Amino acid sequence: MSAEVLHGLSLPVKSIPPKYFYDEAGSKLFDIITGLPGYYLTRTETAILRDNSTAIARRMDARACLVEYGSGSSVKSRLMLDACRPAAYVPVDISRDHLERSAKAIFDDYPALSVYPTCADYAMPFALPPPVAALPRLAFFPGSSIGNFEPDDASTFLRGVAEVVGEGGWLVLGVDTRKDREVLDRAYTDAGGVTEQFNRNLLLNINKTVGADFDAEGFRHLAVYNEEAGRIEMYLVSKRDQRVTVAGTEVDFAEGEALHTENSYKYDPEEFVARAEDSGFDCVDVLQDDRGYFMVLLLQAQIST
Ligand code: TRP
Repeated sequence: MSAEVLHGLSLPVKSIPPKYFYDEAGSKLFDIITGLPGYYLTRTETAILRDNSTAIARRMDARACLVEYGSGSSVKSRLMLDACRPAAYVPVDISRDHLERSAKAIFDDYPALSVYPTCADYAMPFALPPPVAALPRLAFFPGSSIGNFEPDDASTFLRGVAEVVGEGGWLVLGVDTRKDREVLDRAYTDAGGVTEQFNRNLLLNINKTVGADFDAEGFRHLAVYNEEAGRIEMYLVSKRDQRVTVAGTEVDFAEGEALHTENSYKYDPEEFVARAEDSGFDCVDVLQDDRGYFMVLLLQAQIST
């Protein structure tokens, strides 16, 4: 863990892997972000899923196993559970407490459903619980977290999901689209400073888990849209010259120096469909809202082709 973080901090543009956002506090802050007026992503995706839930369910196998990547608070999961009525549900999340609490709530509300919470970093291979081995699979990866991978890593990830669901298995995938800069700016910076708190929480989590003495208040949030690359770049900018000790190693930040925390790639529909079809899937449907702010793709694994 500390080797990975120290490596990122030794690069010319210092960086910390975004998975450190999601400790208990970070997961809660992100839940608040999803309700902010400017953060159109969650609201739009939820509406797409709600408007199309019957159409989605019609294509999926009955009695399948629903594997959700990065389940967080499992809000959208309920839409999928209600529509697809799977036999088993495997929520996968890196934040253990959050995972267990959400899984418990699902367990209470869906007594007939077998729930197998799995605490894992979904970017790495993880094992499905043995009882679901024989069930057809339906993967669900909402929230456009796929956009937080570099595009080539997104392709690698998709190939991995295709292996997990197997030939003919499904992936319901949420992807954010390229759009006007103003809309994106409003989504990734809010006047109330919740986004800043969320971004800074990554430093507090590093202090806790890796052992460091970051002064989170000594950094401010910055989100910039790199239109050419089609991505929002998130940074924490040092407010002054400062020295931080991370896992016993001293790291210097100059005033104004930006620490990179996350990229959030946005894709045009054709662009993403081509990538998915290159990465082990057939694209069966692209569902969008009227403004085209977001898309939900229905992908079916085609491993042999
Ligand atoms: N995965 C989210 C996204 O790309 C994360 C996110 C939202 C985020 N707002 C942020 C990450 C601000 C860092 C800073 O939309």
